[in-house]
Amino acid sequence: MRRRDSGRTRDAPGGTLRVGDEATPRLAVGDEALIEVVRWAREALARSDAFELEVPDPDAGVGPSSGVPPRSWRAWVDLAEVLACRCHTPERVAAGTVRVRFTPLAPEASWHGGIGDAERYDPASSFGAVRKLEHPGFLVPLLEALGRVRPPDGGRVLVLGCHRGDEIEALGALDPPPRSLAITGVDRSGRALAVARARFPLASFVEGDVNDLPPALGRFHLVVAIGLLQSPGVDDKALLRRLVQHHLEAGAGLLLGLPNSRFRGNEVTWGARTRNYRASDLSLVVRDLATYRRYLQQHGFVTHVGGRYDLLLTAWRRACDSAEAKVGRLRRRRTPDATQE
Ligand SMILES: C[S@@+](CC[C@H](N)C(=O)[O-])C[C@H]1O[C@@H](n2cnc3c(N)ncnc32)[C@H](O)[C@@H]1O
Repeated sequence: MRRRDSGRTRDAPGGTLRVGDEATPRLAVGDEALIEVVRWAREALARSDAFELEVPDPDAGVGPSSGVPPRSWRAWVDLAEVLACRCHTPERVAAGTVRVRFTPLAPEASWHGGIGDAERYDPASSFGAVRKLEHPGFLVPLLEALGRVRPPDGGRVLVLGCHRGDEIEALGALDPPPRSLAITGVDRSGRALAVARARFPLASFVEGDVNDLPPALGRFHLVVAIGLLQSPGVDDKALLRRLVQHHLEAGAGLLLGLPNSRFRGNEVTWGARTRNYRASDLSLVVRDLATYRRYLQQHGFVTHVGGRYDLLLTAWRRACDSAEAKVGRLRRRRTPDATQE
């Protein structure tokens, strides 16, 4: 492992870590295996609030001589993410060599924590400042999911937990956008709905609790609920049952999204985390998605799971179900209803 810095040395996993005269540890990455770089970076982070790597310029296409393929920017960005660091704009330091600085991410946004919903989802809160549609990891999977359950022109769409209406904006970004949709947004935050109303004056909005959706709300060609079903106080399984029984037209689509990310400063990091646990853990998200998916399949829906920072379950039912599919479903229904577990 080549190190550029002069100065003190100390033992580190994978070799000796030299700390330069400058406060920031710096490693010139050569032929070493990635595991050595990771160990060095962890050690550096334990001692310093930044570290730097000098790496072969990924655009030069030069790999370690050990036969390992050249490392792309994705490798260094992923390294930053798994170490909970920010990857700063690289600087060219010599022909074919760039220096990248890594610094620890800011703490998680306060709205991930235990504050009350009214405060958390107020448009003036830090959640209100989030613009998911400005993140490719939210935007592109959301558009793909909406494309899968695209409502017909003139169709009726219900957006539950709509907050300031980002899902409504995304519907308008489909190519081509569905025409003349009748959109209803529901949220219990009156202040978020005021923002949504101002943004989408043609949509209608209902301030209320999704646990008490009135049957008179009617049936829809698409129901969207992102970041809602795991909210405290929401009876997700009862809500899903009610949606399927009372609020979907024949052939309607459903888009359910569960958060799989945390906001830290200006950055978003992949992975759900259970409250009060430091490490990311997808157990609850995976369990809930599997339950919703099983229930929907038992009721004749075709499903797809995708997404990145939100995991997105899309489900749709063909308007004309074949007799064969119905028999198969009746057989499957002999197993207990997934939402009753
Ligand atoms: C995490 S935000 C998600 C907002 C938006 N769908 C998104 O994905 O960016 C959850 C939203 O659901 C709303 N909400 C939570 N529980 C609710 C309930 N029981 N009834 C209605 N809205 C609720 C909150 O007010 C908030 O606007």
